[in-house]
Amino acid sequence: PRYSRITGTGSCLPPRRVTNEEFAADLAQRGIETSDQWIVERTGIRARHFADPAVASSDLAVAAARQALESAGRTPAEIDLIIVATSTPDMVFPSTACIVQQKLGVHGCAAFDVQAVCSGFVYALSVADAMIKAGTASRALVIGAEVFSRILDFNDRTTCVLFGDGAGAVVLEASDTPGILASELHADGRHVGILCTPGTVSGGQVLGDPLLKMDGQAVFKLAVSVLEDVARSVLEKAGRTEADIDWLIPHQANIRIMQGTAKKLKLPLERLVVTVDEHGNTSAASIPLALDHAVRTGRIQRGDTLMLEGVGGGFTWGAVLLDY
Ligand code: ACO
Repeated sequence: PRYSRITGTGSCLPPRRVTNEEFAADLAQRGIETSDQWIVERTGIRARHFADPAVASSDLAVAAARQALESAGRTPAEIDLIIVATSTPDMVFPSTACIVQQKLGVHGCAAFDVQAVCSGFVYALSVADAMIKAGTASRALVIGAEVFSRILDFNDRTTCVLFGDGAGAVVLEASDTPGILASELHADGRHVGILCTPGTVSGGQVLGDPLLKMDGQAVFKLAVSVLEDVARSVLEKAGRTEADIDWLIPHQANIRIMQGTAKKLKLPLERLVVTVDEHGNTSAASIPLALDHAVRTGRIQRGDTLMLEGVGGGFTWGAVLLDY
């Protein structure tokens, strides 16, 4: 049988780091009140990175991709599939994946974007795994990249303090041994309105509101209710149990959702990879960023079993269980 396996990871954060204190001071100048204490208590976020205006998702994606390629010992020319998960693409079209391909200096391989908001990376990884298992691809670059700062309403304190910019990437290769053990994806379009950026481009103009809207409490409740179920289902498919999970890498949106999921899976909190404190919610980039961070700091070792879990707008959610 043919399996897929992660052979390299990489990530990129734009250099500008904004702490809660700096952010609060900035917002206060415009009459908007928030505090480090409120943000830390409700979300666990202490700082986030924001890209400068000239930097696009593809720039962060390429930097993360180059690191992932280097750690996999691969060159861009050896890649035969590029998937970018993003909700903040450089352009309406072509896809950010095509732009990434061009910036990597290669051409010819399949390249496309996946749009599942904060579940985007889990969706993209599942698609790449399926394509590798089907023989459609052998060496994939799977990237999550976002410049969420571009779609934030900096007059809305209930959302603007939560998000950040960044990118993470993995190289996923065909292998005789697993790799990805099981995955599962879900969506419930009845909840389109609770987390959306409703604007669009039409007739040469932006129609509707191009800034992010979120009903935080509704998202919170849905997230907590679906994440445990999908994790259990993926474990069952793989013939594993909670006790087999070495590291839980959930989408980094809110420390309370993440710890709640870990507790439900009876995982000690030391087994939870946390980067939301330093990155904020980077949407599709958060899981590969957290993965790369844990790999580079030596916490995740070859042979560890990882549970990746995404949840976000759509409403979408999913999980991937893998042996690293
Ligand atoms: N600073 C200070 N006060 C604030 C801020 C702020 N930044 N934001 C909101 N408040 C106020 C509210 O106005 C409210 O005041 P009121 O009681 O006088 O009305 C009070 O704080 C409490 O607000 P709640 O919305 O009840 O706060 P809650 O505890 O629910 O926390 C939060 C809000 C952090 C958004 C939480 O609901 C959450 O994390 N939800 C999930 C969000 C999430 O995970 N989103 C990402 C999903 S992934 C994706 O696809 C993008």
